[in-house]
Amino acid sequence: MASVTEIAPDVFRITTFNPTTRLSYSHFVIRDDEPVLYHAGLRSCFAELSEAAASVVDVQKIRHIGFSHFESDECGALNDWLEAAPDAVAFTGPLCAATSLNDFAIRSPAVLGKDATLETGTKRFRLIPTPHLPHGWDSAMLFEESDRTLFVSDLFTDSGDPAPVIDSGLADRAHQFLLRAEQSLFAHSTNFNPSSRGQLEALAELGPKTLAVMHGSSFSGEGSQELLQLASAMEDVFKKQAVIDG
Ligand SMILES: [Fe+2]
Ligand SMILES: [Fe+2]
Repeated sequence: MASVTEIAPDVFRITTFNPTTRLSYSHFVIRDDEPVLYHAGLRSCFAELSEAAASVVDVQKIRHIGFSHFESDECGALNDWLEAAPDAVAFTGPLCAATSLNDFAIRSPAVLGKDATLETGTKRFRLIPTPHLPHGWDSAMLFEESDRTLFVSDLFTDSGDPAPVIDSGLADRAHQFLLRAEQSLFAHSTNFNPSSRGQLEALAELGPKTLAVMHGSSFSGEGSQELLQLASAMEDVFKKQAVIDG
């Protein structure tokens, strides 16, 4: 079964490992009056993920399902979850709704605009648009304000099946992964453009205490420092890739 770890108060990391991609895949269940699932995961993993989620929440009572950008590991199993949880509604930004989710989801999604908040009982969420960061023009990052948890999707990706939570070295690991990835199928996975550093600086200003990472360890500590360090790491990789691409 998938492993389950509480990484922040009532925030549970549910993780599988795929030996083909050599990546871990983490999904987050937030236990509250109205339970939230962030990352619906691959369709092929639904049975395993829902069994693990049931250890921390009544799956039928999940009310909100979100993700960063339209991609199979983010939302492939969305409709399975919507069938399992009859009162659940997907939430997304206006662009993802217009380009993908209004068509894909079996129930209409809730659209969370730039300054809108989602209150679930004791927790309050905002969806922060981050176009093309890490990739995809519909990308967004979810921020939980009461405990300052930032859900960063594919940022800080690392390979293998590392520890559920670390408190140092997150950006270093991501830097090494990005350098290795540029020689692999995952080259160009993380976009760096003139807006990227400013986007990461804006995320750092949120002062996150926990970074909830999809592929790799999550992080507990000074999240701002890791985000700023990641900006420099991405810039370095982008320059090296430009040389490789000629
Ligand atoms: Fe992605
Ligand atoms: Fe991903």
